[in-house]
Amino acid sequence: MNVFASSPHENAPFSWTWSEYGDTFAHPSGILELMRDLGEALASGDPDLCMLGGGNPSPIPEAEAMFRAQWRALTDTPAHLDAILGKYDTAQGSPLFLSTMADYLNDRYKWGVTPENLCVTNGSQTAFFHLFNLLAGQGKKILLPLSPEYIGYADQGHGADFFQAVHGRMEETGPHRFKYRMDPDRIRMTPDVAAIAVSRPTNPTGNVLTDGEIQTLSDLALQHGVPLIIDNAYGAPFPGILFREVTPVWAPHIILAMSLSKLGLPGTRTGIIVADRPVIRMLTSINAVAGLANGNIGQALAGPMLADGRMDRLCAEIIRPFYEARSRRAGRLWEDALGERVSWTRHEAEGSMFHWLRFPGMPIPDTELYQRLKARKVLVIPGHYFFYGLETDPPERHECIRVHTAMDPAQFARGVEIIADTLAGL
Ligand SMILES: Cc1ncc(COP(=O)(O)O)c(C=O)c1O
Repeated sequence: MNVFASSPHENAPFSWTWSEYGDTFAHPSGILELMRDLGEALASGDPDLCMLGGGNPSPIPEAEAMFRAQWRALTDTPAHLDAILGKYDTAQGSPLFLSTMADYLNDRYKWGVTPENLCVTNGSQTAFFHLFNLLAGQGKKILLPLSPEYIGYADQGHGADFFQAVHGRMEETGPHRFKYRMDPDRIRMTPDVAAIAVSRPTNPTGNVLTDGEIQTLSDLALQHGVPLIIDNAYGAPFPGILFREVTPVWAPHIILAMSLSKLGLPGTRTGIIVADRPVIRMLTSINAVAGLANGNIGQALAGPMLADGRMDRLCAEIIRPFYEARSRRAGRLWEDALGERVSWTRHEAEGSMFHWLRFPGMPIPDTELYQRLKARKVLVIPGHYFFYGLETDPPERHECIRVHTAMDPAQFARGVEIIADTLAGL
Protein backbone atom coordinates (compact mmCIF):
# COMPACT_ATOMS: atom_id res chain seq x y z
CA MET A 1 0.00 0.00 0.00
CA ASN A 2 1.28 3.46 -0.80
CA VAL A 3 0.63 5.38 2.39
CA PHE A 4 1.64 8.66 0.83
CA ALA A 5 -1.23 8.47 -1.64
CA SER A 6 -3.30 11.02 0.25
CA SER A 7 -0.48 12.88 1.94
CA PRO A 8 1.30 16.11 1.02
CA HIS A 9 4.01 13.90 -0.48
CA GLU A 10 1.67 12.41 -3.03
CA ASN A 11 3.80 13.57 -5.93
CA ALA A 12 7.01 12.21 -4.45
CA PRO A 13 8.73 9.63 -6.66
CA PHE A 14 8.41 6.87 -4.03
CA SER A 15 7.09 3.44 -4.77
CA TRP A 16 7.92 1.98 -1.39
CA THR A 17 5.86 -0.72 0.15
CA TRP A 18 5.65 -1.28 3.85
CA SER A 19 5.77 -4.51 5.74
CA GLU A 20 2.55 -5.86 7.24
CA TYR A 21 3.62 -4.23 10.51
CA GLY A 22 4.32 -0.97 8.69
CA ASP A 23 0.97 -1.09 6.96
CA THR A 24 -0.79 -1.40 10.29
CA PHE A 25 0.71 1.72 11.76
CA ALA A 26 1.32 3.81 8.66
CA HIS A 27 -2.42 3.74 8.00
CA PRO A 28 -4.16 7.07 8.57
CA SER A 29 -5.76 6.67 11.97
CA GLY A 30 -8.54 8.54 13.73
CA ILE A 31 -6.23 9.74 16.44
CA LEU A 32 -3.64 10.99 13.96
CA GLU A 33 -6.19 13.05 12.04
CA LEU A 34 -7.62 14.52 15.19
CA MET A 35 -4.23 15.36 16.64
CA ARG A 36 -3.36 17.11 13.38
CA ASP A 37 -6.60 19.09 13.47
CA LEU A 38 -6.13 20.10 17.08
CA GLY A 39 -2.46 20.91 16.59
CA GLU A 40 -3.16 23.09 13.56
CA ALA A 41 -5.96 24.90 15.37
CA LEU A 42 -3.75 25.62 18.35
CA ALA A 43 -0.80 26.68 16.19
CA SER A 44 -3.06 29.16 14.39
CA GLY A 45 -3.10 31.21 17.63
CA ASP A 46 -6.64 32.31 16.74
CA PRO A 47 -7.96 34.20 19.80
CA ASP A 48 -11.57 33.27 18.94
CA LEU A 49 -10.87 29.55 19.05
CA CYS A 50 -12.68 27.56 21.76
CA MET A 51 -10.48 24.58 22.49
CA LEU A 52 -12.75 21.95 24.02
CA GLY A 53 -10.98 19.03 22.36
CA GLY A 54 -7.63 17.44 23.13
CA GLY A 55 -6.40 15.79 26.27
CA ASN A 56 -3.79 18.17 27.56
CA PRO A 57 -3.74 18.73 31.30
CA SER A 58 -4.81 22.24 32.24
CA PRO A 59 -2.11 24.71 33.18
CA ILE A 60 -2.66 25.10 36.95
CA PRO A 61 -0.48 27.92 38.31
CA GLU A 62 0.11 26.34 41.76
CA ALA A 63 1.11 23.03 40.19
CA GLU A 64 3.38 24.74 37.67
CA ALA A 65 5.05 26.66 40.53
CA MET A 66 5.74 23.39 42.37
CA PHE A 67 7.28 21.80 39.28
CA ARG A 68 9.40 24.89 38.67
CA ALA A 69 10.63 24.85 42.27
CA GLN A 70 11.62 21.20 41.90
CA TRP A 71 13.29 22.00 38.59
CA ARG A 72 15.32 24.75 40.32
CA ALA A 73 16.30 22.30 43.05
CA LEU A 74 17.70 20.06 40.30
CA THR A 75 19.64 22.81 38.60
CA ASP A 76 20.98 23.94 41.99
CA THR A 77 22.73 20.57 42.41
CA PRO A 78 24.85 20.46 39.26
CA ALA A 79 26.30 17.01 39.88
CA HIS A 80 22.83 15.53 40.09
CA LEU A 81 21.65 17.45 37.03
CA ASP A 82 24.73 16.41 35.05
CA ALA A 83 24.06 12.78 35.89
CA ILE A 84 20.45 13.08 34.77
CA LEU A 85 21.28 14.79 31.52
CA GLY A 86 24.49 12.95 30.78
CA LYS A 87 23.71 9.28 31.43
CA TYR A 88 21.35 6.66 30.11
CA ASP A 89 19.27 5.17 32.89
CA THR A 90 18.73 1.44 33.06
CA ALA A 91 16.05 0.29 30.64
CA GLN A 92 13.73 -0.33 33.60
CA GLY A 93 13.99 3.22 34.91
CA SER A 94 16.05 5.15 37.42
CA PRO A 95 16.89 2.82 40.36
CA LEU A 96 16.34 5.67 42.83
CA PHE A 97 12.95 6.50 41.34
CA LEU A 98 11.88 2.86 41.27
CA SER A 99 12.67 2.35 44.94
CA THR A 100 11.00 5.66 45.92
CA MET A 101 7.93 4.62 43.97
CA ALA A 102 7.83 1.16 45.57
CA ASP A 103 8.03 2.71 49.07
CA TYR A 104 5.36 5.25 48.16
CA LEU A 105 2.91 2.59 46.96
CA ASN A 106 3.60 0.28 49.90
CA ASP A 107 3.13 3.11 52.42
CA ARG A 108 -0.27 3.88 51.01
CA TYR A 109 -1.67 0.58 49.85
CA LYS A 110 0.46 -2.17 51.46
CA TRP A 111 0.83 -3.89 48.07
CA GLY A 112 4.20 -5.34 48.98
CA VAL A 113 5.76 -4.29 45.68
CA THR A 114 9.51 -4.05 45.14
CA PRO A 115 11.40 -2.16 42.42
CA GLU A 116 11.27 -5.43 40.45
CA ASN A 117 7.51 -4.87 40.15
CA LEU A 118 7.99 -1.47 38.51
CA CYS A 119 9.05 -0.26 35.14
CA VAL A 120 9.14 3.20 33.56
CA THR A 121 8.08 3.75 29.95
CA ASN A 122 8.14 6.78 27.66
CA GLY A 123 4.58 7.73 28.56
CA SER A 124 1.91 5.21 29.45
CA GLN A 125 0.71 5.30 25.82
CA THR A 126 3.93 3.52 24.87
CA ALA A 127 3.34 0.97 27.61
CA PHE A 128 -0.10 0.13 26.20
CA PHE A 129 1.32 -0.24 22.73
CA HIS A 130 3.86 -2.76 23.95
CA LEU A 131 1.57 -4.56 26.38
CA PHE A 132 -1.26 -4.98 23.90
CA ASN A 133 1.02 -6.27 21.17
CA LEU A 134 2.92 -8.53 23.56
CA LEU A 135 -0.33 -10.15 24.61
CA ALA A 136 -2.69 -10.03 21.62
CA GLY A 137 -2.72 -10.27 17.82
CA GLN A 138 -2.97 -13.23 15.43
CA GLY A 139 -6.42 -14.14 16.67
CA LYS A 140 -5.86 -13.16 20.31
CA LYS A 141 -7.80 -10.13 21.52
CA ILE A 142 -7.88 -7.46 24.16
CA LEU A 143 -11.27 -7.42 25.83
CA LEU A 144 -12.61 -3.96 26.64
CA PRO A 145 -15.42 -4.60 29.12
CA LEU A 146 -16.88 -1.11 29.05
CA SER A 147 -17.22 0.64 25.71
CA PRO A 148 -16.89 3.55 24.86
CA GLU A 149 -13.21 3.43 25.74
CA TYR A 150 -10.05 5.52 25.24
CA ILE A 151 -9.47 6.44 21.58
CA GLY A 152 -5.71 6.07 22.05
CA TYR A 153 -5.93 2.27 22.17
CA ALA A 154 -7.97 1.96 18.98
CA ASP A 155 -5.11 1.94 16.47
CA GLN A 156 -2.46 0.31 18.61
CA GLY A 157 -3.07 -3.30 17.67
CA HIS A 158 -0.97 -5.10 15.13
CA GLY A 159 -3.61 -7.20 13.40
CA ALA A 160 -7.30 -7.20 12.55
CA ASP A 161 -10.06 -7.66 15.13
CA PHE A 162 -7.65 -6.79 17.88
CA PHE A 163 -10.25 -5.54 20.36
CA GLN A 164 -13.42 -7.16 21.58
CA ALA A 165 -15.45 -4.45 23.23
CA VAL A 166 -18.59 -4.74 25.31
CA HIS A 167 -21.06 -1.89 25.19
CA GLY A 168 -21.94 -0.46 28.59
CA ARG A 169 -25.53 -0.52 29.82
CA MET A 170 -26.89 3.04 29.90
CA GLU A 171 -28.57 3.79 33.18
CA GLU A 172 -30.53 7.01 33.62
CA THR A 173 -29.38 8.65 36.84
CA GLY A 174 -31.41 11.88 36.74
CA PRO A 175 -32.79 14.53 34.39
CA HIS A 176 -30.33 14.86 31.47
CA ARG A 177 -27.97 12.49 33.25
CA PHE A 178 -26.86 8.89 32.76
CA LYS A 179 -24.09 6.46 33.59
CA TYR A 180 -22.63 3.49 31.73
CA ARG A 181 -22.66 0.36 33.85
CA MET A 182 -20.55 -2.64 33.08
CA ASP A 183 -22.77 -5.62 32.28
CA PRO A 184 -20.98 -8.83 33.34
CA ASP A 185 -23.60 -10.93 31.50
CA ARG A 186 -22.43 -9.45 28.20
CA ILE A 187 -18.75 -10.25 28.83
CA ARG A 188 -17.69 -13.43 27.06
CA MET A 189 -14.36 -14.80 28.21
CA THR A 190 -13.71 -16.84 25.07
CA PRO A 191 -10.34 -18.61 24.62
CA ASP A 192 -9.15 -15.85 22.28
CA VAL A 193 -9.25 -13.22 25.06
CA ALA A 194 -5.63 -12.46 25.94
CA ALA A 195 -6.21 -9.68 28.46
CA ILE A 196 -8.89 -7.40 29.85
CA ALA A 197 -8.26 -3.64 29.73
CA VAL A 198 -10.09 -0.67 31.25
CA SER A 199 -9.36 2.97 31.88
CA ARG A 200 -10.41 4.10 35.37
CA PRO A 201 -11.48 6.96 35.34
CA THR A 202 -12.59 6.32 31.78
CA ASN A 203 -11.60 8.61 28.99
CA PRO A 204 -13.98 9.70 27.29
CA THR A 205 -16.94 9.40 29.67
CA GLY A 206 -15.57 10.38 33.07
CA ASN A 207 -16.98 7.11 34.40
CA VAL A 208 -15.21 5.49 37.33
CA LEU A 209 -15.65 1.76 37.60
CA THR A 210 -16.82 0.90 41.10
CA ASP A 211 -14.75 -1.25 43.44
CA GLY A 212 -17.32 -4.00 42.84
CA GLU A 213 -16.96 -3.78 39.05
CA ILE A 214 -13.17 -3.92 39.35
CA GLN A 215 -13.47 -6.93 41.67
CA THR A 216 -15.64 -8.69 39.08
CA LEU A 217 -13.05 -8.03 36.37
CA SER A 218 -10.21 -9.08 38.61
CA ASP A 219 -11.98 -12.37 39.44
CA LEU A 220 -12.70 -13.00 35.76
CA ALA A 221 -9.09 -12.35 34.80
CA LEU A 222 -7.81 -14.64 37.53
CA GLN A 223 -10.27 -17.43 36.66
CA HIS A 224 -9.31 -17.31 33.00
CA GLY A 225 -5.58 -16.90 33.52
CA VAL A 226 -5.26 -13.54 31.76
CA PRO A 227 -4.06 -10.15 33.03
CA LEU A 228 -6.35 -7.29 33.94
CA ILE A 229 -4.80 -4.05 32.65
CA ILE A 230 -6.00 -0.98 34.53
CA ASP A 231 -5.22 2.37 32.96
CA ASN A 232 -4.86 4.74 35.87
CA ALA A 233 -3.84 7.84 33.89
CA TYR A 234 -6.37 9.99 35.80
CA GLY A 235 -6.65 7.85 38.91
CA ALA A 236 -5.24 7.61 42.42
CA PRO A 237 -2.78 8.16 43.97
CA PHE A 238 -1.67 10.62 41.29
CA PRO A 239 -2.99 12.70 39.61
CA GLY A 240 -6.10 11.73 41.60
CA ILE A 241 -8.67 13.38 39.29
CA LEU A 242 -11.45 11.44 40.97
CA PHE A 243 -14.65 12.98 42.30
CA ARG A 244 -15.75 9.93 44.26
CA GLU A 245 -13.98 7.56 46.62
CA VAL A 246 -12.63 4.38 45.07
CA THR A 247 -9.88 2.02 46.08
CA PRO A 248 -6.85 1.62 43.82
CA VAL A 249 -6.00 -2.06 43.43
CA TRP A 250 -3.03 -4.11 42.41
CA ALA A 251 -2.29 -7.84 42.53
CA PRO A 252 0.14 -9.98 40.55
CA HIS A 253 -2.44 -10.66 37.81
CA ILE A 254 -3.15 -6.91 37.48
CA ILE A 255 -1.04 -4.62 35.32
CA LEU A 256 -1.52 -1.10 36.60
CA ALA A 257 -0.45 1.73 34.31
CA MET A 258 0.23 5.13 35.83
CA SER A 259 1.42 8.37 34.30
CA LEU A 260 2.87 11.75 35.24
CA SER A 261 1.09 13.39 32.31
CA LYS A 262 -2.19 14.48 33.82
CA LEU A 263 -0.39 16.00 36.80
CA GLY A 264 0.85 18.56 34.33
CA LEU A 265 4.00 16.84 33.07
CA PRO A 266 3.04 15.28 29.69
CA GLY A 267 6.20 16.71 28.12
CA THR A 268 8.36 14.49 30.31
CA ARG A 269 6.74 11.37 28.75
CA THR A 270 6.76 9.29 31.90
CA GLY A 271 4.62 6.19 32.35
CA ILE A 272 4.98 3.83 35.31
CA ILE A 273 3.88 0.21 35.18
CA VAL A 274 3.19 -1.89 38.28
CA ALA A 275 3.13 -5.58 37.42
CA ASP A 276 4.38 -9.04 38.23
CA ARG A 277 8.09 -9.55 37.59
CA PRO A 278 7.88 -11.44 34.28
CA VAL A 279 5.82 -8.58 32.82
CA ILE A 280 8.36 -6.05 34.08
CA ARG A 281 11.21 -8.07 32.59
CA MET A 282 9.39 -8.16 29.27
CA LEU A 283 8.74 -4.41 29.26
CA THR A 284 12.32 -3.69 30.31
CA SER A 285 13.57 -5.78 27.46
CA ILE A 286 11.31 -3.95 24.98
CA ASN A 287 12.45 -0.59 26.40
CA ALA A 288 16.05 -1.60 25.77
CA VAL A 289 15.45 -2.94 22.28
CA ALA A 290 13.17 -0.16 21.10
CA GLY A 291 14.66 2.82 22.89
CA LEU A 292 17.66 1.88 25.07
CA ALA A 293 16.32 3.81 28.04
CA ASN A 294 13.55 6.20 29.06
CA GLY A 295 13.58 9.92 29.46
CA ASN A 296 14.55 10.55 33.07
CA ILE A 297 13.56 14.17 33.72
CA GLY A 298 10.05 13.24 34.86
CA GLN A 299 11.42 10.71 37.30
CA ALA A 300 13.91 13.25 38.63
CA LEU A 301 11.14 15.80 39.17
CA ALA A 302 8.52 13.46 40.62
CA GLY A 303 10.74 11.26 42.82
CA PRO A 304 11.52 13.87 45.51
CA MET A 305 7.90 15.05 45.50
CA LEU A 306 6.68 11.51 46.10
CA ALA A 307 9.17 11.01 48.90
CA ASP A 308 8.42 14.13 50.93
CA GLY A 309 4.62 14.29 50.63
CA ARG A 310 4.42 17.19 48.18
CA MET A 311 2.88 14.94 45.53
CA ASP A 312 0.02 13.96 47.82
CA ARG A 313 -0.62 17.57 48.79
CA LEU A 314 -0.49 18.66 45.14
CA CYS A 315 -3.08 16.07 44.13
CA ALA A 316 -5.42 16.45 47.11
CA GLU A 317 -5.28 20.21 47.57
CA ILE A 318 -4.71 21.55 44.07
CA ILE A 319 -5.28 19.16 41.19
CA ARG A 320 -8.44 17.33 42.23
CA PRO A 321 -10.25 20.48 43.52
CA PHE A 322 -9.29 22.33 40.33
CA TYR A 323 -10.76 19.75 37.97
CA GLU A 324 -13.77 19.11 40.16
CA ALA A 325 -14.63 22.83 40.27
CA ARG A 326 -14.25 23.09 36.48
CA SER A 327 -16.43 20.05 35.96
CA ARG A 328 -19.18 21.41 38.23
CA ARG A 329 -19.06 24.77 36.52
CA ALA A 330 -19.30 23.06 33.14
CA GLY A 331 -22.31 21.11 34.41
CA ARG A 332 -24.10 24.34 35.33
CA LEU A 333 -23.27 25.87 31.94
CA TRP A 334 -24.75 22.87 30.10
CA GLU A 335 -27.94 23.10 32.16
CA ASP A 336 -28.29 26.81 31.41
CA ALA A 337 -27.43 26.62 27.71
CA LEU A 338 -29.09 23.36 26.67
CA GLY A 339 -31.92 23.28 29.22
CA GLU A 340 -35.00 21.99 27.43
CA ARG A 341 -33.99 23.54 24.07
CA VAL A 342 -32.58 20.31 22.68
CA SER A 343 -32.63 16.61 23.43
CA TRP A 344 -29.50 15.91 25.47
CA THR A 345 -28.04 13.90 28.27
CA ARG A 346 -24.64 13.85 29.94
CA HIS A 347 -22.62 11.11 31.56
CA GLU A 348 -22.08 11.44 35.30
CA ALA A 349 -18.73 13.18 35.78
CA GLU A 350 -16.94 10.99 38.31
CA GLY A 351 -13.36 11.75 37.31
CA SER A 352 -10.97 12.78 34.49
CA MET A 353 -11.23 16.13 32.70
CA PHE A 354 -14.01 15.35 30.27
CA HIS A 355 -17.74 15.54 29.87
CA TRP A 356 -19.46 13.07 27.57
CA LEU A 357 -22.65 14.34 26.02
CA ARG A 358 -25.27 12.51 24.02
CA PHE A 359 -27.87 14.20 21.82
CA PRO A 360 -30.50 11.50 21.29
CA GLY A 361 -32.15 11.67 17.87
CA MET A 362 -29.68 14.28 16.56
CA PRO A 363 -30.49 14.67 12.82
CA ILE A 364 -26.82 14.84 11.75
CA PRO A 365 -23.96 12.48 12.69
CA ASP A 366 -21.29 13.50 15.20
CA THR A 367 -18.74 14.06 12.41
CA GLU A 368 -21.01 16.63 10.77
CA LEU A 369 -21.63 18.30 14.12
CA TYR A 370 -17.84 18.38 14.60
CA GLN A 371 -17.39 20.11 11.22
CA ARG A 372 -20.13 22.65 11.90
CA LEU A 373 -18.67 23.44 15.30
CA LYS A 374 -15.16 23.66 13.86
CA ALA A 375 -16.47 26.16 11.29
CA ARG A 376 -17.67 28.21 14.26
CA LYS A 377 -14.23 27.81 15.92
CA VAL A 378 -15.29 25.33 18.57
CA LEU A 379 -13.26 22.14 18.74
CA VAL A 380 -14.66 19.03 20.40
CA ILE A 381 -14.01 15.33 19.83
CA PRO A 382 -16.65 13.41 17.85
CA GLY A 383 -17.84 10.46 19.92
CA HIS A 384 -17.80 7.65 17.34
CA TYR A 385 -14.01 7.27 17.60
CA PHE A 386 -14.45 5.82 21.07
CA PHE A 387 -16.72 2.99 19.90
CA TYR A 388 -14.44 0.36 18.38
CA GLY A 389 -14.17 -3.41 18.69
CA LEU A 390 -17.95 -3.77 18.96
CA GLU A 391 -19.95 -6.38 17.06
CA THR A 392 -22.84 -4.01 16.42
CA ASP A 393 -23.12 -0.24 16.46
CA PRO A 394 -24.77 1.06 19.61
CA PRO A 395 -27.63 3.53 19.03
CA GLU A 396 -25.64 6.48 20.39
CA ARG A 397 -22.54 5.87 18.23
CA HIS A 398 -23.06 9.02 16.15
CA GLU A 399 -24.84 11.10 18.79
CA CYS A 400 -22.02 11.87 21.25
CA ILE A 401 -19.18 14.30 21.76
CA ARG A 402 -16.35 14.48 24.28
CA VAL A 403 -15.58 17.87 25.74
CA HIS A 404 -12.59 18.98 27.84
CA THR A 405 -14.05 20.95 30.74
CA ALA A 406 -10.93 22.52 32.17
CA MET A 407 -9.23 24.74 29.64
CA ASP A 408 -9.81 28.48 29.45
CA PRO A 409 -13.09 29.26 31.32
CA ALA A 410 -14.18 32.07 28.99
CA GLN A 411 -13.53 29.91 25.91
CA PHE A 412 -15.44 27.09 27.53
CA ALA A 413 -18.50 29.25 28.26
CA ARG A 414 -18.46 30.60 24.71
CA GLY A 415 -18.04 27.08 23.33
CA VAL A 416 -21.04 25.82 25.29
CA GLU A 417 -23.21 28.64 23.93
CA ILE A 418 -22.13 27.87 20.36
CA ILE A 419 -22.75 24.13 20.82
CA ALA A 420 -26.23 24.85 22.21
CA ASP A 421 -27.00 27.30 19.42
CA THR A 422 -25.78 24.91 16.72
CA LEU A 423 -27.85 22.03 18.10
CA ALA A 424 -30.95 24.19 18.51
CA GLY A 425 -30.63 25.23 14.86
CA LEU A 426 -30.58 21.68 13.46
C1 LIG B 1 -6.98 7.13 29.43
C2 LIG B 1 -5.60 7.48 28.98
N1 LIG B 1 -4.65 6.57 29.07
C3 LIG B 1 -3.38 6.81 28.67
C4 LIG B 1 -3.05 8.03 28.13
C5 LIG B 1 -1.64 8.24 27.67
O1 LIG B 1 -0.98 9.18 28.45
P1 LIG B 1 0.61 9.32 28.51
O2 LIG B 1 1.20 8.52 27.39
O3 LIG B 1 0.87 10.76 28.38
O4 LIG B 1 1.03 8.73 29.85
C6 LIG B 1 -4.01 9.03 28.01
C7 LIG B 1 -3.68 10.34 27.40
O5 LIG B 1 -4.49 11.15 27.09
C8 LIG B 1 -5.33 8.75 28.45
O6 LIG B 1 -6.31 9.67 28.35
